[in-house]
Amino acid sequence: MPALLNRKPEQRSQKAKKSSRVNAALAKYLSTDIWQESWPTTSSYTLIDTWKNEKRNWGHSLHSMASRSGSFPPALADYFIQRFSKPGDTVLDPFSGKGTTALQACLGGRIGIGVDVAPEAYALTAAKTICVEHNLAVKYLRQLKINSDPRKCAALLKEVPDNVKVFYHDSVLAQLVSLREELAKDFSIGYLSYDEAPYFELRKPGTRAQYAQYWLGVLIGILHGSSELSLSVACSHSFSMAPGYVRKYSAEHGLEKPDRDVIECLIKRSEKLQTDGANTRPGRAILGSAMKLPAALTETVDLMVTSPPYFTAQTYAWDNWLREWFMGFDFKDVRKQTLHTAVVDKYSEGMYQHLAEAYRVLKPGAWAFVVVGDVIKKSITKLGKEKTKVEELIITANIIATEAERAGFKVEMIINDDIPPTSRYNSSFLKQDQGLKLDRIVCLRK
Ligand SMILES: C[S@@+](CC[C@H](N)C(=O)[O-])C[C@H]1O[C@@H](n2cnc3c(N)ncnc32)[C@H](O)[C@@H]1O
Repeated sequence: MPALLNRKPEQRSQKAKKSSRVNAALAKYLSTDIWQESWPTTSSYTLIDTWKNEKRNWGHSLHSMASRSGSFPPALADYFIQRFSKPGDTVLDPFSGKGTTALQACLGGRIGIGVDVAPEAYALTAAKTICVEHNLAVKYLRQLKINSDPRKCAALLKEVPDNVKVFYHDSVLAQLVSLREELAKDFSIGYLSYDEAPYFELRKPGTRAQYAQYWLGVLIGILHGSSELSLSVACSHSFSMAPGYVRKYSAEHGLEKPDRDVIECLIKRSEKLQTDGANTRPGRAILGSAMKLPAALTETVDLMVTSPPYFTAQTYAWDNWLREWFMGFDFKDVRKQTLHTAVVDKYSEGMYQHLAEAYRVLKPGAWAFVVVGDVIKKSITKLGKEKTKVEELIITANIIATEAERAGFKVEMIINDDIPPTSRYNSSFLKQDQGLKLDRIVCLRK
C-alpha cells in the first residue's frame, strides 16, 4: 500500500501482538483455520497523518445531524477518500448508516453514494447528500400546514400506538403526525414495502421533494433526545429506548413531556447543522441491501469505504424503532432485512454475497476499505451434565478477508484501529466491558 504506510507491514505494533496473544489463549475454542492471521497487519498509529490524531467531532457540521450507534468518525472516511480517490470519482458505502462516508465524499467533491436497509439510515444519508440551503428550506417549511391542536388531527392520532405516546406531549404528537402528512405529499415515506422491489429510492426529482427529505433528516435528529430542541421526554439521542422503561423511569423521576414548537425546533437545528454551510455536491441515497446492489452500478465505483454490522453487536432496527415508526416502518420488518446473526457460517455467507457485489460494482484496480470490530461471543456448552462457559473471540476482519479473497479481491493489509471499549455501545450477548475490543480495517483491492 504505497502512500498509506511509513512502516513495513511486518513491523507489528505492540497492541497487534497483544491481540494475537489473546487469540492464541482462546485458540482451543476456535474451530477453523480462518482464525489464523495470515495477512499483513499494522496499527492505525503507524499511518502517515493518521485520522487518530483528529478529534472525534472533526468534520463538517452536517455530520452531527443525528447520533446513531455503530458509526465511524468522518475523519476516518476522509482519510481513505482523500488518498484513494480524486474529485469527480464515485465513492460507495453499501452499509451507509447515518451517511458519514457519502457526505464526506460529497464535501470532497466526489459523488457519495450510500446504501442501507434501514429507512432512518436512508433518510439521514439523503438529507445530508442533497444540496439544500437553510434559508430556502425554511421558506418551504413555513408554508406547510402543521396542527398543534390534537382535536384537529384526531383521526391521525388514533393510529399512533401507546408506545409512541409515552414519549410525546399531545401537542407535539399532533404536530408530528400533521408534519408527516405534509412531507408525504412531496415524497413517499415508508409507503413502499420491501416486497415491492428489492431496491427503491424514495427520492423524487424536484425541489419540494428535496426540501421534504432534508427536513425529514433534521427531524430524525431531534425526534428523541435530551437537548433543548429534542421533541421527546428526556431520553437517549442515539437510540430509541424501550417504551416500558421510559414509562417507568418518567413516572419515578417525574419527567415531563416537553411542549415544543416543532417547526421552530427544526429551524434552529438546521441553522446549527449548516454552520459550516450547505452541502453543494449532490450524492445519492438508496434504501436497499448491500447483498444486492443495483445493476446500474456495475464497474462505476472508484472507491468503497464501509462498515458492515459485526454479528449481533448492534441491534440497528430495534435501536431505531421510533425513527422507523415515524417513517411508517415496523422495526420488525426492517430487522428481517438486516444482516444480524450470531452464527459464523451465516455471517460469512452474507459477507461473501456482499463482497461479490462490491467486486462487481468497483472498477478494476479500485480499493475497498472495510471497518469491522472484534467481538467476544459467549455461549454455554454442555458435556453430559456439566455446563461450561465458552468465550469465543471472533476476529471479524479475518472473516471479511477470507470472503473477500473468495469474491476475487486481493487482501493488501489489515489495519488494527484501537478504540477505547467505553466509547462503544454494545448490546445482545456483549457486556459493556467485553464486546468490541478492537476495530480493524480490511484493505482490499480489485
Ligand atoms: C456499522 S453500521 C454503519 C455505520 C456507518 N459507517 C456510519 O458511520 O454511520 C452498519 C449498517 O449496516 C446496515 N445494514 C445491516 N444489514 C444491511 C444490509 N443487508 N444491507 C445494507 N445495510 C445493512 C445497518 O442498518 C447499519 O446502518
